[in-house]
Amino acid sequence: MKIAIDGSAASGKTTLGRALAEQFHLRFVETGKMYRAVALAFDRGIELSQIDIQVTQGERFLLNGVDVTDVLHTRDLDEKSSKVATRSEVRERLVELQRNIADRGDVVMEGRDIGTVVLPDADIKIYLEASTGERARRRIDQRGEGDLRKIEQELISRDKRDSERAIAPLKPAADATIIKTDQKPLKEVISEASNLVRDRLEDVAWAAENRD
Ligand code: C5P
Repeated sequence: MKIAIDGSAASGKTTLGRALAEQFHLRFVETGKMYRAVALAFDRGIELSQIDIQVTQGERFLLNGVDVTDVLHTRDLDEKSSKVATRSEVRERLVELQRNIADRGDVVMEGRDIGTVVLPDADIKIYLEASTGERARRRIDQRGEGDLRKIEQELISRDKRDSERAIAPLKPAADATIIKTDQKPLKEVISEASNLVRDRLEDVAWAAENRD
């Protein structure tokens, strides 16, 4: 089972992805953290050809063997990762890494281009949508700080860069289910997505039973 979750920054992808992974015993991979790790590496003067990123089963991100997971979610790397994500050579490297992970087993993968580019054959594709105000409030709750207007402006500029870039722009796959999460309790979003997964699992089981 491969599940692709896409959507703009702070749209709730990670919370949903982790919940589905736990419920259905799947591996969870946040691809945004890989772009953040590349931005961090560039900051430290490491060239792309010298960058090695490993993602452990326990969701730890190793940059050239060093665990950098806890330093990836800063506002500085919000901005820098969104800039490095426009570079084709960076995307090629990371898409290859992401597909290698997915080839090794069942996975819930979240990002911006999972349903469109990384896993176009995913069993389920979900695209989350939420207003800028709602997303900015969530980001402030997550980080415990921040000015609403400033965070909104940052989200708008990252969204613009993500959806206007030439390669793998942010957009829902044609066969994605769009879930709007504004004013929807998280429990409801998770339950909607879980139902999609259960339906799909039933279809797969039915097809296996009725083969030939
Ligand atoms: O999801 P997160 O905010 O951690 O992602 C950091 C940045 O990486 C995003 O702003 C986006 O530009 C980029 N990204 C991407 N494709 C992905 C995941 C993230 O371009 N699959």
